[in-house]
Amino acid sequence: MVFNGVEVGAFAVWAFGVVSSIVSPLYSRNTKYMAHTVAGATLGLTQPVNIEHPKISFAAKEIDAVEWKGDILAVGVTEKDMTKDEKSKFQNSVLKKLDGLLGGLLAEVLSEEDFTGKAGQTAVLRLPGLGSKRVGLIGLGLAASSPAAFRGLGEAVAAAAKTAQANSVAIVLASSEGLSNESKLSAASSIASGTVLGIHEDNRYKSESKKPQLKSVDILGLGTGPELEKKLKYAEDISSAIIFGRELVNSPANVLTPAALAAESSKIASLYSDVLSANILTAEQCKELKMGSYLGVAAASANPPYFIHLCYKPPSGPIKAKLALVGKGLTFDSGGYNIKTGSGCSIELMKTDMGGSAAVLGAAKALGQIKPPGVEVHFIVASCENMISGTGMRPGDIITASNGKTIEVNNTDAEGRLTLADALVYACNQGVEKIVDLATLTGACIVALGPSIAGVFTPSDDLAKEVFEASEVSGEKFWRMPLEESYWESMKSGVADMVNTGGGQGGAITAALFLKQFVDEKVQWMHIDLAGPVWNDKKRVATGFGVSTLVEWVLKNSSK
Ligand code: BES
Ligand code: MN
Ligand code: ZN
Repeated sequence: MVFNGVEVGAFAVWAFGVVSSIVSPLYSRNTKYMAHTVAGATLGLTQPVNIEHPKISFAAKEIDAVEWKGDILAVGVTEKDMTKDEKSKFQNSVLKKLDGLLGGLLAEVLSEEDFTGKAGQTAVLRLPGLGSKRVGLIGLGLAASSPAAFRGLGEAVAAAAKTAQANSVAIVLASSEGLSNESKLSAASSIASGTVLGIHEDNRYKSESKKPQLKSVDILGLGTGPELEKKLKYAEDISSAIIFGRELVNSPANVLTPAALAAESSKIASLYSDVLSANILTAEQCKELKMGSYLGVAAASANPPYFIHLCYKPPSGPIKAKLALVGKGLTFDSGGYNIKTGSGCSIELMKTDMGGSAAVLGAAKALGQIKPPGVEVHFIVASCENMISGTGMRPGDIITASNGKTIEVNNTDAEGRLTLADALVYACNQGVEKIVDLATLTGACIVALGPSIAGVFTPSDDLAKEVFEASEVSGEKFWRMPLEESYWESMKSGVADMVNTGGGQGGAITAALFLKQFVDEKVQWMHIDLAGPVWNDKKRVATGFGVSTLVEWVLKNSSK
């Protein structure tokens, strides 16, 4: 992925009127977007390297695991599969066969390695006498039944393949007989996406990197045929959309400016121009729409804002549901005058503040590929930077959103909700029935739910049900939080309709209540706070969180 199409322009000012003469509102692939002069000359020397990810080919086979030839034969093993009979032999047929061929060596080595099948355990053994160079045993815990567990299996296989520099692997479940046909299909697809996502490394900003070796993955014992092939293709589409989302978030703010995000969006639209169209608004056009709240946040930045609107329409047939996905797209959040200071504020991680938009655009990419019938989807991102300068918003300023509501900005660091306010009003004007917004909105949500669970806020039980069902398929973690109306008290202003920041406690809830002010009551709406799960602190890379749940949710609303 390269952020091309971004002109490093000669203008440091994006005052209204200047922008429109440079940037045409009608975007083609070659449209140039203006970026900041100084950044262009110096910070702009960093460019992501366009790395081709060699495609891993997946094949579903019904051959006996012990007959398979290649680099690693990976076996997913539950704790129960490890049970032995009175003669200390495995009861499980796959393990028994392998152990038999190896003259009891497998059981011996596994007990020496303390492998009991617990989730997270991996043992990769180099044993002679098999068609495969290595056998990898991967613990699945008590019972593997969830998409998350199977995705974990794929990730563990990917890790083993990297270590052994394997070209070919096969994956088999020690006990797959008990699974229904439906479960086999979904297990295979979760394993496949786990493998692809586990292999992926974002090396675009490294001057040197190793190429991944893995070329082929055989999935054994989970069936064959067109249905399974379709599932594997689907897993591939989702995984590449997740990787796209990760790459957007990993990109630093000196590269991924609002202009670059707009360029990436219109690239997606032109790649799938049969179903996607793009409309990208300049600051001046947003001003015409009276988006004073969004533009207030953008005002301090030398990099101009871009309001991104992609629309998915199916290739043919009637439309049953109209949906909108709205993503927070702050390419950097310094906090503004309420600058992020002190340890724990994580200012250096604030390039991730467009994680909501990455999920939304990732979903757009996947849907462009999958092309579901019967559903129209609007993808909306009010992208900008939250910076500091003489032209910026001051604490205490009163700004006016596009629905006419006035906001006293008592904290410039509560900027995400200000950009979302105008994006939500715009989404409602598209005539959609349901809106899901995603935003890295509050540190308070991380305090409440920790780093890997997203907070869900919605007045609609029906919409909650839909999204939670989608999350069961995707394996992503969500937790519903209350929209406690009595907390709105702390959001009242003496001089404007509201302030943008409540009193400290319940910060994720007051943020959600703020957003609610900008949503039409007739529209079903959900807000997802993904400040925690957007980033993997251990690996120091983005997760791509949200993409797969959003796609599942849209498919639920389609006529598939
Ligand atoms: N982008 C931050 C939220 C955030 C914090 C995301 C940490 C990821 C990690 C957001 O704009 C913000 O600054 N929120 C403030 C709100 C406060 C001023 C009411 C926060 O959470 O401190
Ligand atoms: Mn902020
Ligand atoms: Zn922010």
